[in-house]
Amino acid sequence: MKQIVVERTTDRRTRSLLYKVAPRRLAIFGGTTTFADCLVALRYLADPRQLVQGPAIIEYEQAFARQVGVRYAYSFCHARVGLYGLLLALGVGPRDEVLLQVPTHVVVSNAIRYTGARPVYVDCRLDNYNIDLEQAEQRITPRTKVLILQHTFGIPVELDAALDLARRYGLDVIEDCVHALGATYDGRQVGSFGRAAIFSTEHAKTISTTMGGMVVTDDVELAAKVQAFQQRCAYPSASQTALHILKLVLFHCLLEPHLYYYTWMIYELFGQHYPFPHPVTDEEGRGGRPANYEQRLSNAQATIGLRQLQRLDANLAHRRATATAYAVRLSKEGFDVPHPPAKAEPAFVRYPVWVKDPDVVRRVAVQHATLGEWFRSILSWPDSPVYDDYEMGSCLRAEEAIRHLVNLPTHPWVSAQDVETIISAVVRATTMVRSRDTIKKGHEP
Ligand SMILES: Cc1ncc(COP(=O)(O)O)c(C=O)c1O
Repeated sequence: MKQIVVERTTDRRTRSLLYKVAPRRLAIFGGTTTFADCLVALRYLADPRQLVQGPAIIEYEQAFARQVGVRYAYSFCHARVGLYGLLLALGVGPRDEVLLQVPTHVVVSNAIRYTGARPVYVDCRLDNYNIDLEQAEQRITPRTKVLILQHTFGIPVELDAALDLARRYGLDVIEDCVHALGATYDGRQVGSFGRAAIFSTEHAKTISTTMGGMVVTDDVELAAKVQAFQQRCAYPSASQTALHILKLVLFHCLLEPHLYYYTWMIYELFGQHYPFPHPVTDEEGRGGRPANYEQRLSNAQATIGLRQLQRLDANLAHRRATATAYAVRLSKEGFDVPHPPAKAEPAFVRYPVWVKDPDVVRRVAVQHATLGEWFRSILSWPDSPVYDDYEMGSCLRAEEAIRHLVNLPTHPWVSAQDVETIISAVVRATTMVRSRDTIKKGHEP
């Protein structure tokens, strides 16, 4: 027994020495799934009796509700589906209006439009990329029913002011906590402030079940309606669930920084053409509604969600420490960093940085890390404003933000050395852009 331990330790030492000298490159997400998660997930494939349905779903939902500090939680295949069910449960329908900020994700405005209601877009603030409450107030009409508060990048909205606004106009608040699992405001978990909230566990979020979403609420009547909606949703097929599990395992392996140094090429070559379920279908990107939209979460994915939820504290502590390190380094270099509200403790799923030319920064940084693209478009999807009812020029700060934002990874695989390397790349790229612009100016007549 002792010998095995010694061998394992030696093996680990050799591996960590090898890792120290081997090149690494970081993906924008990863590190939330463990090897043990993969083994558990693969066991469901070997014995698929509880692959789709089983007791882990309720266990996971209860643990999620406890995490947020509310009584009820209901899981879905995506957060967007939960949002759709929630809007229906709140009685939102044709001729109603729902206020939401941009930038956001097209699947959020889709969920609103699927109910027959109209999304009314509100600009963001540039200090923390959350909703501009003054403009939100100006856009309230007698038809406004719901105010969606998106805690962008995991930075909590100024909730005292937002809830006061909703109270004054009798609006229901839905918190979009898709980026913000574990963030707090005034010491309380986000997701526990509105009438209800949505969370996502898609692979790029704080925890990953490959795809997945949750609705939480403390309102007993609303909970009953959301539960009834959940029961009307179909379970995913066994083959679909198997693909989600395989994708979880594959991403865990291929995104490991030393492997990603090489596998990144494959990803670049194949781009979005990999043979696994995509987070957003082309149809949704165009504002359409997929045929099998209303689906639940599988038992196997719930098991993984539960395991990752149990490790959430360490995950969050790492993200917060990484975000603080970015903030300190970037401030020293003269970059603007986000300013969360005074009572907020963000959960930075990614760290947003405002740069002059995001494409150059991404190109320079890619030797070390793939930087994130939230948000490259008002609705995250290149063509979506064309298909949606967003009027260009109606949210000028958001339109400016999408031309300047890059996001830095905060996930558990980001080391202190990675932070240094990434910041050096951002600084180098910015200097290059400045010199390029100076030369350009010099050539202007
Ligand atoms: C702000 C925001 N809200 C909601 C969603 C939808 O989450 P899901 O993909 O789980 O439906 C996304 C997707 O990334 C998002 O960025």
